[in-house]
Amino acid sequence: MKPVKTAFFCQDCGYQSPKWLGKCPACGVWNRFVEEEEPVSVLGKDADLSFNTPPLPIDEIAAEEGDRIVSGIDEVDRVLGGGLVGGSVILVGGEPGIGKSTLLLQILQHLAARGSKVLYVSGEESAKQIRLRGQRIGALSGNLLVLTEISIEKITQHFREVKPSILVVDSIQTTYSANLSSAPGSVGQVREGAQQFVLLAKKTGVPVFIIGHVTKDGAIAGPKILEHMVDTVLYFEGDSGHPYRIIRAIKNRYGPTNEVGVFEMGDSGLKEVANPSSFFLNERPEGTVGSVVVPSIEGTRPILIEVQGLVGANLFGTPRRTAIGVDHNRVSLLTSVMDKVWGKNICGHDIFINVAGGIKVDEPAVDLGVVSAILSSFLDRPIDPHTIVLGEVGLTGEIRRVAQIEERVKEAARMGFNRCILPKGQKDVTPSSQKIKLFPISNLKQLMEHLF
Ligand code: TYD
Ligand code: MG
Repeated sequence: MKPVKTAFFCQDCGYQSPKWLGKCPACGVWNRFVEEEEPVSVLGKDADLSFNTPPLPIDEIAAEEGDRIVSGIDEVDRVLGGGLVGGSVILVGGEPGIGKSTLLLQILQHLAARGSKVLYVSGEESAKQIRLRGQRIGALSGNLLVLTEISIEKITQHFREVKPSILVVDSIQTTYSANLSSAPGSVGQVREGAQQFVLLAKKTGVPVFIIGHVTKDGAIAGPKILEHMVDTVLYFEGDSGHPYRIIRAIKNRYGPTNEVGVFEMGDSGLKEVANPSSFFLNERPEGTVGSVVVPSIEGTRPILIEVQGLVGANLFGTPRRTAIGVDHNRVSLLTSVMDKVWGKNICGHDIFINVAGGIKVDEPAVDLGVVSAILSSFLDRPIDPHTIVLGEVGLTGEIRRVAQIEERVKEAARMGFNRCILPKGQKDVTPSSQKIKLFPISNLKQLMEHLF
């Protein structure tokens, strides 16, 4: 028997080194090198894995995309670009307990209910636990097969016998291959597993979902190449204290990226939120001080969110700044700009900003919303509840253009808002309708006359 060759692998990025290193030269982390068996290429060892096709001129390749498999959950289908493509591999990442297993079980149930045989492989939970979850979300179809297994070879064998039309592997960090001696979850095993499942999908034309854990800083655990190997990467995110969940396409070879689907986690699984704007606004206190609505863009969709501001007297020296849902530094910057424009020592107060519903917004278009919420609280004057504000605020207080203004204003009109404060430069591109009256401004100085 040949001695096994080993090398040291960075557990974060997969960098390989013949000797142990303290710091990874590729990604810079410390103390993450672990000795593992060197990967043996599965392609070289097993001729059966070859695709066995000759080179073809590009214009002679059959190009019909094939019918997409529609999951029946609209929010998922939209994120995927209109359903599942045969032979595609979809990596689903998310924090523990966010609802990845629940979502995938629901997708399978939808397909099973329409007569497809589907296979759910779990290495994390017992069959009984999965049945209990299935009971809870109403997923007890006879076409939904459950397999508790972590050996990649066994999973492949069952897959070939069952011939399902969709395979789900929950999760890639629990699977292991007997070809390697390293532990499940190590770089070598994760890479081997992904490679095997990608081959399986490409050879059989069956879509495969792979669930992946995420690390503390939010990246999918295991080497980055995992994301390169698959066709689609979806992130499932949300705030554990709130019921809403967002599924987001980070990479998609067969559809748009940055598209999002919105769900609500309830007692019987995930429910689609068809109208996210009303979902995020339904607890809004109308006519109170320090609250304003901003149409934000999530993916390609406008979603109305409520920005709340609270300005309090500073009693302990250094003024406090707390920002939940928006960038903390941006809030500090905006308050300095406000001081420059109005000169009322707003900076000397404690300032708290919160985006209601636990959603996070990361775009400059909400700047004017943050300023308006702070101003309303500072002056103790409520903003008209049917007004929306939009615009990026520059350092001299100028109001700058925002992207996709038409969609934003339309969504606001649809939700019953009738006044819109917007950047002056975008007055003409915005469809004027009788429903919504536009108040273009070019500088923060003009904000006050339209806000209250
Ligand atoms: P799960 O799908 O196990 O998360 P993941 O696979 O991402 O780790 O979801 C677990 C959480 O979801 C758990 O905290 C309970 C909650 N949950 C509900 O609130 N309602 C439900 O119907 C189900 C099935 C789970
Ligand atoms: Mg799970």
